[in-house]
Amino acid sequence: MKSMVILISGRGSNMAALLDAVGEAAFPARVAAVLCNRPHAPGLEIAAARGIPARVVDHTRYPERAAFDAALAEAIDAWTPDLVALAGFMRILGDDFVARYAGRLINIHPSLLPAFPGLRTHQRALDAGVRIHGCTAHFVTPALDHGPIIAQAAVPVLDGDDADSLAARVLIQEHRLYPLVVRWFAEGRLRVVDGRVALDAAQEAAASLISPQASGRR
Ligand code: GRF
Repeated sequence: MKSMVILISGRGSNMAALLDAVGEAAFPARVAAVLCNRPHAPGLEIAAARGIPARVVDHTRYPERAAFDAALAEAIDAWTPDLVALAGFMRILGDDFVARYAGRLINIHPSLLPAFPGLRTHQRALDAGVRIHGCTAHFVTPALDHGPIIAQAAVPVLDGDDADSLAARVLIQEHRLYPLVVRWFAEGRLRVVDGRVALDAAQEAAASLISPQASGRR
């Protein structure tokens, strides 16, 4: 059984999806703790309601990023996790922090990377006129949103979409994808070879991630 610490900043719906998954019988990982950089994040209450230790490392108390990163690392290491999962964690982490957790730090990003790294991904996808959008689970490396891609899930962009409707469609897929990727990690199925992820998983599982949500037309 692998242990995991989840880092959040806000709503915590991806965290909740992970908590749902680890609650299932035979899931190969457990959530040791949730850490959050914002004292009033709604996700903290969700974690507490589920009996998960939830701690705040408030970035505003650390004028320098390195000091915040060090405090965060200390809080994480108290749980000696096998995996650190960023789930809507909205702070950029320094190179030393990323190096400390190399190979065991993952993120879920709301676009089909390498398209649309950074913020406002859904509006930028609409502005670019793409017809397919989605989400990416990836290992974290120092270059923001550029680490080795583990898996992706795609959704169509529908006529009449705005950023909110598109975000909602993508979020459904995030909640499917992230627990699956954590499962693969915990089962030892992920290896990074030459900067790319070699996935030892059933082809059917990977194929099912291309989500034919056209039936989700409103
Ligand atoms: C998600 O879309 C995630 O991909 C992005 O920020 C959002 C966080 O949502 N990084 P939540 O806090 O998991 O509900």
